[in-house]
Amino acid sequence: MPENVYDEVEKVIAFEAARQEPRPDFPPLPEIPGGRYTSPEFFALEHDRVLAKSWVCAGRDEDLRKVGDYRLWDKLGVPLLLVRGQDDRIRAFYNTCRHRGAPVVRQDAGNTRLLRCQYHSWSYGLDGTLKGVPDERDFPCLDKSSRGLIEAACDVWGGWVFVNLDKDAQPLLDYLGPLVAELDCVGMAGLRTVHVQEYQVACNWKVAMDGFLEVYHINTIHPTNAGIMLDHKAAAMGLFEHGHSRMATRKRMNQGLNFVEFEGAPDIPTMPDFYRLNNVAYMAFPNLITPVEPTGFPVLLFWPDGVGKCTMQAIYVAPDWGNGPLPEFWNTFLPIFDQVLEEDMMNMAPIQRSLESGGFTGMMINYQERRIYWFHEEVDRLIGAADIPDGLAVPQLLSRFVEDRYDQAAE
Ligand code: FES
Ligand SMILES: [Fe+2]
Repeated sequence: MPENVYDEVEKVIAFEAARQEPRPDFPPLPEIPGGRYTSPEFFALEHDRVLAKSWVCAGRDEDLRKVGDYRLWDKLGVPLLLVRGQDDRIRAFYNTCRHRGAPVVRQDAGNTRLLRCQYHSWSYGLDGTLKGVPDERDFPCLDKSSRGLIEAACDVWGGWVFVNLDKDAQPLLDYLGPLVAELDCVGMAGLRTVHVQEYQVACNWKVAMDGFLEVYHINTIHPTNAGIMLDHKAAAMGLFEHGHSRMATRKRMNQGLNFVEFEGAPDIPTMPDFYRLNNVAYMAFPNLITPVEPTGFPVLLFWPDGVGKCTMQAIYVAPDWGNGPLPEFWNTFLPIFDQVLEEDMMNMAPIQRSLESGGFTGMMINYQERRIYWFHEEVDRLIGAADIPDGLAVPQLLSRFVEDRYDQAAE
């Protein structure tokens, strides 16, 4: 990120830490209707208009290192096949044979020259073109050139594979906008996966995600870790186009819990001290949250499994540690982070039960929690005002606070 952005964000952190009253120019936020977390109708719209039309992260490209490496991926509820082609490009296809719809590939992952359907052996090149059809003479109307695997949009940024079920989606880097330049210093492409963990939670995916969009809760829920490590009042929120956002929270140094101070902590030297002094968490709409740290960090992904259940996926990446064993640091860091996540999750299923109880009207969102509201606004923009079920819309209020349109620094 350009130097002046760090300076500006530091100014906002100082302003937030010092203020004694609410910002006078910031609107009180109306309730977020509880039905947005419980309505099957809203859930279907969210899937069709938001998740199926956004760039979402399907993992690391290091899992598809060689030409012909493939793996199945179905976190959007659609069976996709990711494969690295002869031209080194990673593509995403529906794992659906154009003969009679069988899954082309059954194994979760592997390497192949030809994608041969396991039902009647139609075979496809790594670029999806239909190559071979047994007994082709018996398909008099078959035009092989129009019977390739159906492709979804796929691109890679910083070693992260993104897919978009909307073939007409805007380019990934345009979509990610300012996050690309800001996170350039992390050198994502050179990082290596340390650990992947999945948590199944009995709550709407947004209940889980909301807990990572604010630090208002840390003193009460995380008193032995994040509550010590971070000063929740010294937090600057940046809102970006497309629903993305940033939260920079000042760290309390010398408390024994700041990861960058750990003995033998790995370091990404290209990251400026801004990231050593502050915990900076980014959200890439619609479902990726990452608190980047020079030591290495998790990327958290939130996947709906139904209206009231979801999977939270944590993919930890770190500077490459070469041929030796995993640095000792991770034996300390991973359990601490896992504990933080467990503390967060403790509330999530009970929240969902409350939301479904009929006694709940809506979420009351404060100024510190405005990234949650910003997310919901974007969801409504994508669904379209006319199609939002009665009583479930959120008024559009925060666009004028988008960072490049608005100087957030203290006057
Ligand atoms: S369904 Fe794939 S070859 Fe028949
Ligand atoms: Fe938390």
